[in-house]
Amino acid sequence: MVSALDLFSLKGKNIIITGGTSGIGRNVADYLASAGANIAIVSTKTENSDKVAQTIAATYQVKTVGIGCDVSDANAVEEMVKTVSKKIGTADVLFNNAGINLWGGALDLKYEEWKRVFDVNVNGVFLAARAFAQQLVAEQKPGSVINMASISASIVNLPQMQTAYNTSKAAVLHLTKTLAVEWVQHGIRVNAVSPGYVWTEMNQVIPQEIRDYWVNATPYKRFAKPDEIAGAVIYFASDASSYTTGSELIIDGGFTCI
Ligand SMILES: NC(=O)c1ccc[n+]([C@@H]2O[C@H](COP(=O)([O-])OP(=O)(O)OC[C@H]3O[C@@H](n4cnc5c(N)ncnc54)[C@H](O)[C@@H]3O)[C@@H](O)[C@H]2O)c1
Repeated sequence: MVSALDLFSLKGKNIIITGGTSGIGRNVADYLASAGANIAIVSTKTENSDKVAQTIAATYQVKTVGIGCDVSDANAVEEMVKTVSKKIGTADVLFNNAGINLWGGALDLKYEEWKRVFDVNVNGVFLAARAFAQQLVAEQKPGSVINMASISASIVNLPQMQTAYNTSKAAVLHLTKTLAVEWVQHGIRVNAVSPGYVWTEMNQVIPQEIRDYWVNATPYKRFAKPDEIAGAVIYFASDASSYTTGSELIIDGGFTCI
């Protein structure tokens, strides 16, 4: 007899979630904990991370830790991975979710803005994946990295211009494939999740006419709920995806089909 629930179970797995205090990361954290995982919540503010970590521990009776860490700071990221080991055990899964979007087209965007988007979205994803994998390789353990890409990795969003963001997410996608091939020998899988427009706080403050444009361009005619991203992360984090590496799972209500 087989068990689908066992296949997708995260019982005893230790998972780092960067950008875990709000939006998609906060929502997915609950689902991962409910599937049995111990959770490390990472965000730039220690107090916010602590608060979320404590709430999750109390709700799901799993081990948690909250950590303040800017993912674009290489030393801080290395310390963060070590702290996770000490507090809840070596991480088995990294959900590389932290990201920012600064709108602007190439003609108007300040170079500082371009660099900041790359620092968080690309360098942050690279640094966290590398520190996570270095520890696993040293301990000869397998693992799974789940990088947060976006449909913006392969399409150009309209009506807003977001040159830096689109380019950064394309880099995340190809980094995913590159690391997948490099690390297969170490038993570390690397996959990407690419949502379309998700109904998070970030999008709720966008002017109505722009939100209407996005919804009309989506075959499903609505935003994704953050809960609708969780299943993909559980799949990539669990043994259900043991032969899956270098993949991108697009969750966009059909946006990129048309
Ligand atoms: N919301 C969407 O429509 C959508 C669509 C596709 C992809 N995404 C991606 O999903 C991810 C989460 O987005 P969200 O919508 O939940 O946004 P959000 O702003 O609610 O969450 C982003 C999180 O990242 C953290 N963060 C930002 N900069 C950081 C840094 N330097 N170091 C550590 N943490 C940092 C923030 O504290 C926050 O917890 C991002 O990578 C985003 O690009 C979002």
